Amino acid sequence: MATRTFWAPGRVNLIGEFTDLAGGLVLPAALDLGIRLEAEPAAETRLESADGDPGWTRYVAAVAAELDALGRPPVGIAGRLTSTLPAGAGLSSSAALEVVVALALCAVADFPLAPLELAQAARRAEHRAVGVPCGILDQAACVLGRAGCAILLDTTTLAHEAVPLPPELALVVLHSGVTRRLEGSGYAERKRELEEGHPARLRHVTTESERVRAAVDALRAHDLDRLGEIFREGQESLRVDFEASIPELDRLVELAYEHGAVAARMTGGGFGGAIVALVDADRAQPFADAVLGAYGMRGRAYVCAAADGAREL
Ligand code: GLA
Repeated sequence: MATRTFWAPGRVNLIGEFTDLAGGLVLPAALDLGIRLEAEPAAETRLESADGDPGWTRYVAAVAAELDALGRPPVGIAGRLTSTLPAGAGLSSSAALEVVVALALCAVADFPLAPLELAQAARRAEHRAVGVPCGILDQAACVLGRAGCAILLDTTTLAHEAVPLPPELALVVLHSGVTRRLEGSGYAERKRELEEGHPARLRHVTTESERVRAAVDALRAHDLDRLGEIFREGQESLRVDFEASIPELDRLVELAYEHGAVAARMTGGGFGGAIVALVDADRAQPFADAVLGAYGMRGRAYVCAAADGAREL
């Protein structure tokens, strides 16, 4: 039987953090790092991976269960996963895994889903697999990505558009070395506080959506100084109002600006994890080396570009 190949990228959120918990705006980009799945139809689903990561199994089962609930005919997949996406780096490797498996399961069963329907099923699978009450950011970025662009997404209406990024800039993700697990982090607590109307948390999501609009305006006007200011304000709001940053992330953001980043801020689920910095592509690697040198031993850097979303190759 013919083997088919599927690809799903990781993502980095440029700005619009935690706004998807309150139906606000987000501005992520899909990355040129991701997960590849070569698969063929099978009676039962059985996937191997080079890393042999047993943690992946529960996500695969959860995706299958969500698609079954939508009426997908019960065709399994036998296949092999390979990843260029580091796990635990804040680049949404779990969303990429969910989406690539969903694409393959839908394809072998001839059960087409619109990209955002597939993303929503993948998001429900995240809840089912690990109980994390995440928003749609990660899975939507994974399916909607466009090379060279960020994606402006309204998480209430799911209206979206591609926003070109300055081609001279690279996306540098700097991981703090502080492992973030959404399970057991403050993530669920922040979500609950939003639902209860915690004033500072609400102020963050309101001002953050305004910053997403302002960042899109700055990108369109190629006003990189303004973009840098907006990212700084975003970081401050995450530190003071949303209380989702940690000192290591604050320090990495400071170091990124000191070493010439156009814009930098914490990215993703917070309480550890990574920052994103927009940096001249020509000097992205020396920039990353210098920041990590000043930060200390535990950091890691990923120099990335904005890439197309999930698809069959
Ligand atoms: C995690 C969640 C997303 C989003 C971000 C914070 O990545 O999975 O839905 O809430 O945190 O912006």
